[in-house]
Amino acid sequence: MEQRENWGSRLGFIMAAAGSAVGLGNIWRFPYTAGENGGGAFILIYLGFVFVIGLSVMTAELAVGRKTSLAAVGAFKSQNKNWTFVGVLGVLSAFLILGFYPVVGGWSLAYIIKSFTGLLGSPDAIPDAFGAFISNSAEPILWLLLFLAMNVVIVAKGIASGIEKAGKVLMPLLFALLVLLAIRSVTLPGAGAGIDFLLKPDFTKVTAATFLAALGQAFFSLSLGMGIMLTYGSYLGKDQNLQQNALIITSMDTLVAILAGLAIFPALFAFGLEPTAGPGLVFVVVPTIFANMGVLGPVFSALFFIALAVAALTSSISLLETVTAYFIDQRGVGRKKAVYGIGATLVITNILSSLSMGALSGFTILGAGFFDFFDILTDKIFLAIGGLLLSIFVGWFMNKEDLRQELTNHGHIKFGLFNIWYALVKFIIPIAIAFVAVSGIISITQTSLMIFGVIVIIVLAVFSKKLA
Ligand code: PHE
Repeated sequence: MEQRENWGSRLGFIMAAAGSAVGLGNIWRFPYTAGENGGGAFILIYLGFVFVIGLSVMTAELAVGRKTSLAAVGAFKSQNKNWTFVGVLGVLSAFLILGFYPVVGGWSLAYIIKSFTGLLGSPDAIPDAFGAFISNSAEPILWLLLFLAMNVVIVAKGIASGIEKAGKVLMPLLFALLVLLAIRSVTLPGAGAGIDFLLKPDFTKVTAATFLAALGQAFFSLSLGMGIMLTYGSYLGKDQNLQQNALIITSMDTLVAILAGLAIFPALFAFGLEPTAGPGLVFVVVPTIFANMGVLGPVFSALFFIALAVAALTSSISLLETVTAYFIDQRGVGRKKAVYGIGATLVITNILSSLSMGALSGFTILGAGFFDFFDILTDKIFLAIGGLLLSIFVGWFMNKEDLRQELTNHGHIKFGLFNIWYALVKFIIPIAIAFVAVSGIISITQTSLMIFGVIVIIVLAVFSKKLA
């Protein structure tokens, strides 16, 4: 058997894992989800979920991955065949997220060019321009195809050092740009209302749905609940401190989300826009900020959308790699063939998602347009259930001493919080996720979609042995 590949360096791993975590979820989705769920109150709940539940689940995923040295499906299968379906559910979630993620990746690419072609010339027209762009039948499709092609080319080659290197350069660039934007944003006249919105929690807006949104966002943003961190952990050296790495990745991801919030909301209030602008938020507010920045505006705008596209790319690559690894490991398909096959399927799902913003907006499956169908199914149902099952598996079906050995590198490093982590994973987290997930899932307005999602999980659980 070939020697299993490992990360070149600790920095390489952290950048790759952070590259997966930091993506559209932080810069595009976090601000609008916070906006739709009451701002500060949502953010407080989110932070609690991230550092108690997210961090613990990430630590658990890394531990299972490194212990088994196998990717998602194989890792579960090697420990307990009845649990294989959790890995399969993860692969399915990755595939479904890839059904809408590239659409937004394509928007980001388009906005790099649009920064220079007159978009910023008339700030008042920016919101309408965005609406017209995404509901168009041809233009966004060309961009999403370009974005998909980049994914396919990179993953078909294997995770080349190119993407890791790009991450090392572009992640700091993204960070620097966000800091710059945040400073510009909070110093605009009228920015105070936005800062209040972010920092003054309004608990009257909090419902069960707020908790589900915060939990779903935490799992989505940290790339949890679908075995990606598990897979990345499987390539980690035995001398690595798992819990410390998990803390670094989680903190980086959270910092970027908060910076994005600070970049967006103060400016948004300063320009009198709506915080509940939905998925279009970043594509409307950011160009508006830059339109008011004079001659350098287009350059900064383009840099921002380059950074956004790169953040999206490093994340979608990790998704595509997860689906690809399943076909390679479990189905014996060659890498190129697997990637091209998946890519061809994604062309279809993404075109449908894109068209659901315009020409197909009247067409729904189980009460949701294609874009929302993929989004709701994963973010509101599969990721939370995936995280729930992972923590039950780790807490109840793995040996506690084995876990202690794994997390202390067989006694070579300390993990003072091991017992607390273990109690969290075994008792608190499953109960917390179950509570939030169930109350949130039943509050999904598209009832048939909700039932469908639950049935899919049950079917997978029953037929998992065949699927793997
Ligand atoms: N974490 C990524 C983001 O925030 C999205 C993602 C989810 C990537 C799940 C991989 C797996 O955009």
